[in-house]
This record gives sequence, structure tokens and C-alpha cells, in this order.
Amino acid sequence: MQLYKNRDLKKSLTIKDISGKKEMKAVDVFAACIEHLKNATFTRAKQQISNLEEEDIHWVLTVPAIWSEAARQFMIDAAEKSGINEDNLTLALEPEAAALCCKSLEIQKSDKGQNPKLGSFSSGSRFLVVDLGGGTVDITANEVMATGQIKEIHSASGGPWGGNMINSKMWSLLREIFGAEVVSTFTLKNREDYLDLVREIERQKRSFKSDSKCTIRIPGSLIVEVKKSNPDMIADKYKGKAEMRINKLQIFPEVLKLIFKEGIDKIIGYVQNLLNEPETSRVKSILLVGGYASCGLLVHAIQEHFNHLTVICPLQPDVIVLKGAVIMGHMETPIVGRMAKYHYGIALAGGEQKSNFDGSHTSFTTSKQEFYTIIPKGSPIQVNEVVTEYDFPIENNQEAANIQIYASEDKEPPKLISEVNCRKIGLIHIKLPRFRRTTKLRIMISNDETEFKVVAREEYTGRCFVGICRFLD
Ligand SMILES: Nc1ncnc2c1ncn2[C@@H]1O[C@H](COP(=O)(O)OP(=O)(O)OP(=O)(O)O)[C@@H](O)[C@H]1O
Ligand SMILES: [Mg+2]
Repeated sequence: MQLYKNRDLKKSLTIKDISGKKEMKAVDVFAACIEHLKNATFTRAKQQISNLEEEDIHWVLTVPAIWSEAARQFMIDAAEKSGINEDNLTLALEPEAAALCCKSLEIQKSDKGQNPKLGSFSSGSRFLVVDLGGGTVDITANEVMATGQIKEIHSASGGPWGGNMINSKMWSLLREIFGAEVVSTFTLKNREDYLDLVREIERQKRSFKSDSKCTIRIPGSLIVEVKKSNPDMIADKYKGKAEMRINKLQIFPEVLKLIFKEGIDKIIGYVQNLLNEPETSRVKSILLVGGYASCGLLVHAIQEHFNHLTVICPLQPDVIVLKGAVIMGHMETPIVGRMAKYHYGIALAGGEQKSNFDGSHTSFTTSKQEFYTIIPKGSPIQVNEVVTEYDFPIENNQEAANIQIYASEDKEPPKLISEVNCRKIGLIHIKLPRFRRTTKLRIMISNDETEFKVVAREEYTGRCFVGICRFLD
């Protein structure tokens, strides 16, 4: 949250410890956390693959989309400090990762035909992803593209109304019930009991039901402290709203419901405003992800308010971003559009598609090959838009498909790739899993500001493979 709140973020940012007295550089704290996760993950993976090397792993670090560039840079620096090589690191925007994961889940009820069935989002579907995290709530509006990639139709927004807000409010409530001074003395003097109470509050928050009392086990050291100043334990203001039963504090449902309500109303109001904007017209579904989406009270309130839309909450909403990040690690997503500076094309041998590819890494003779235009010079390039799509046969045991991309600045597109101004600008490499039979790949080429991207879908299994080509110039 320091990275979110801090408008004038500096690399030297420090954060305070629990006592509020000592401080450390935030980048060191983050680096230590990332390193711990990195080592734990690596150790676990190595148990399964004994000869695994650190360089074999590509790390995807997720960040809220509403963070500033500076905050993202901060995370990159922290990751590098933790020993992750920049080449092996991708930063992923959390709602984008969530959208990508949800897109592939079998969660959408098809309204066509006589037998409605569950299926993943089809191309053209528009949906909101509401990532209900601990600190922030991140919202994006997305559309599914033909390539299966996701296009953002409304930029990310949100606010600091995540699940931790409930914990803070529960602590404020404790301070009101027991006395602020008493609680802070307890916090400073009994560190372990304090941490126990932190965990207890988290547990009770998670199991709170709107019609039953919430029972919080209070550490003995806090009870002793409270009794010193108030033998009754409960401040007058809360008599009838909360009571002590031996070592347990019982809070009546109305009190806690109010605590939840404020944040829930903020979230609903915000989503409603977003849905009133023209860009989000045709949005039919709202996906709820993030740990806080396990909160029944919140989910029901959202379902009730948006009952004209399909509100989807996956079974394990807390791991959707994680899973999406893994998918993204294999599938980077492009961001903005541009106008084509060149004629872009691929090589065809006498109009035959077969020689777009070769099965090896070596290039093939190019003299007679025709230039097949995939993007004409001066045309607008839409992010994620498939510029060309065709089928290509694959031999069994073929390990890879390579597509060479050519470009020409000439006014008219070249006829042959051997023409003077036609240059090879890159190679798209698609690694294949050695199909046991001859098959066909449906090749879909798209492009963004910096990359060509190819998605190849295998005919029989529908498995998709991704190839990327950065421009060489
Ligand atoms: N059953 C539950 N009921 C209520 N809240 C829950 C439940 N399960 C998890 N949470 C809350 O979800 C939050 C954590 O969600 P998540 O793991 O998505 O956060 P995060 O990604 O770490 O945070 P952020 O996205 O803000 O960076 C915590 O506030 C946690 O208390
Ligand atoms: Mg999150």
C-alpha cells in the first residue's frame, strides 16, 4: 500500500516496523520477501525435476494495474535485488492475469441453443474483472479477441477497499470497546499475543456470517490490561452490542455488518459508475477474483445489486491471478496499436504455404520466395487483432515451426522477398511438442507496437502454442 499511496515514490523509500520506531528501506524488505518465495518455489520444483537450474525458470511477478510506473519499477528493482535476472522476469498486471485465467475457465453459461452449457468466454465477449485483494480492489473491462487474447476496453481503475480494510476496522472497534490506550499498550508489551490476536481476527473475519455473533478469543494479557482501567471490560457505548464471555469477546452481527457495509458499498458504487460509461456497454458478466472474493457477504451483495448481469465467482478466487500469471508467462499480451511503418510479410514459395516454415532452426533458400503481405504499409494495427490466419500442415515429430518476417519500406509491397528493399526483420519460433501424427496448425498472426505474435492452434486437440518475434532493428 506504500507503493500505491506514495505519489512521489523514490527508490530510497523506507517503511516502519510494527513499533513505528525503526525503519528499513522498502526495496530491501520486498527483495527479502521475493527471495524467500523464489527459494521456496525453486526448492519445491527441484524436488520434481532434479537437474533444474535457476536459469530454467522464468518468473512472473504480478502487480496491481492501478500502480504507477514508478511502483512497477520498484518491484522490478526489488526482484533483481532478490537475485532474479531481468531476462527471466516479467511483470504482469493482476487484472489482466485474472482475465486471462477466467477466459479459459469453463464458467460462462451459454444462452444459445436448447441445451445451455458451461463454456469459456467466446470471442467478442465482454466482461469486468473485479480483483478483490487485501489492499486494493482493481477493476478492468475486457473483451476476448479471436486469438484468445484479451483486450482491455476500459483502463484499470479501483481503490483501497480491499479485505484488509475490514481487519483495520475490527481493530478500531477493539480500541473503541477496550480503550485505545489499553490496546496500544498491549500491542507493544505482548508481541506474541498481539500476533495471535491478529490471526484470530483474520480467522473470525473469514468465517463471519451475517446473522450470527462473531466470537473473538482475547489473549489473557489483553484482558488483564483492560481490567486495570475498566473492570466491566466493555465500554458503555458498546453495552448491548458486544459482551465478554470468559475469555471471548462476542460482537453482535449488526455491528460487524456495518463494518463490512461501508467497504462493500464503495465497491458496488464504483463498479456501477464504471458500468454506466459508454466503453463498458455490452458487458454481460462480472468476474470476482482475489482472496476477498471468498467473502460471502460481499459476493451476495454484488450479485444482488447486479442481478441483471452474470456474476461469476470461481471456486478458488484467491489463486486466479496466480494461475493467470502462469498462463501469461507463456503468452505475453500486447498493449497498444500503431500505424504500420512498412509492408510486413512472410515468405511463400510460389504461393505454396508449406515453405513458411521449416522444421529446424536453419534458414532455407530464399531466392524464389514470394512476399505475402500480412500488414500493408500505413494501415492501422489494432492491438491483438489477427492480421492473417491460415492452416499449415505439420509433420509428425516436427519439433518447431519457424516463421520468417520480412519488411519493405517501398511504396508498393515487394513481389519477391529477394527484392533490394525487402529485409528479413525477425524470426518467429514456435516450439512444438513432437506430435505423433501428421496434423494441421491454424496459424493466427497478430501484432502490437513491438512484437509479432503467433498463436498456433493444433487441429485435433485444440492446444495452442505461442511464438514471439521481436524486431531486430
Ligand atoms: N473467506 C474470506 N472472507 C473474507 N475475506 C477473505 C476470505 N479469504 C480471504 N480473504 C481476504 O482476502 C484478502 C487477500 O486477498 P488476495 O490474496 O487476493 O490479496 P493480495 O493479492 O495479496 O492483495 P492485493 O491484490 O491488494 O495486492 C485478505 O484481506 C484476506 O483477509
Ligand atoms: Mg491481488
